[in-house]
Amino acid sequence: MEVIIKPTAGDASLIAAKLIARQIRHKPTSVLGLATGNTPLDTYRHLVKMHQGEGLDFSRVTTFNLDEYVGLAPDHPASYHSFMWEYLFKHVNIKPLQVNIPNGLAKNIPEHCREYEDKIRACGGIDIQLLGIGGDGHIGFNEPCSSLSSRTRIKTLTRRTIQDNSTFFDSAEQVPLHVLTMGIGTIMDSRSCVLLAFGTRKAEIVAKMVEGPISAMVPASALQWHEKTTVLIDEEASGKLTRKDYYQWVYQNKPAWQTAEIES
Ligand code: PGA
Repeated sequence: MEVIIKPTAGDASLIAAKLIARQIRHKPTSVLGLATGNTPLDTYRHLVKMHQGEGLDFSRVTTFNLDEYVGLAPDHPASYHSFMWEYLFKHVNIKPLQVNIPNGLAKNIPEHCREYEDKIRACGGIDIQLLGIGGDGHIGFNEPCSSLSSRTRIKTLTRRTIQDNSTFFDSAEQVPLHVLTMGIGTIMDSRSCVLLAFGTRKAEIVAKMVEGPISAMVPASALQWHEKTTVLIDEEASGKLTRKDYYQWVYQNKPAWQTAEIES
């Protein structure tokens, strides 16, 4: 795990966007794993700007989103389909047929989840997976105690996640109880992961993820076992890390070519 601490969420988001843009330029047929929530919004704004200003080309890119609410139609304003079109897809030249988001209205959920996994594999696997982290340590919607080798499936949200996500709905009662989510095993199969976390409310869980034991109680801690994960956080979210000085030292003393791979 590489931990990069930037002064602000905006600075960290710009690096996330640059890492994704670099991946797309290096391999125009890249497969991106994408996330929703408040955290990746700035990253998507930067990617839209890079498309509009620098011609970043999404025409051959394929995407797979982490999750979706069960029971919400794609055009429901709080669905993750709506979110992705609103904040990214409608602003770039991605082909709609190359966008994949779990279908919250799937009739046969186990079969749909198997097909989602098959499609990721058929596309050659995810090159770069963008992630947020829930206050309870979830990645995707893999709530605490999710199997660390889980695959795409239905999950039941915790009360805490329902509360956290109620800001996207009129009330907490409207947040669906069930979701479809890539599993932790699915996420671990991606070639690289970029996890973003901002603000003091994420500080405690970031410390558990990075420095705590690997445990299903903190699903994001599984990423300690991932070959290439970059954790991009702001100052506020770094507040509980015991080895913060070391992460900063590492970043400041990188060989120039390594810094260029991240920052250019
Ligand atoms: P947030 O959610 O970006 O809205 O904080 C993160 C998550 O639940 O993964």
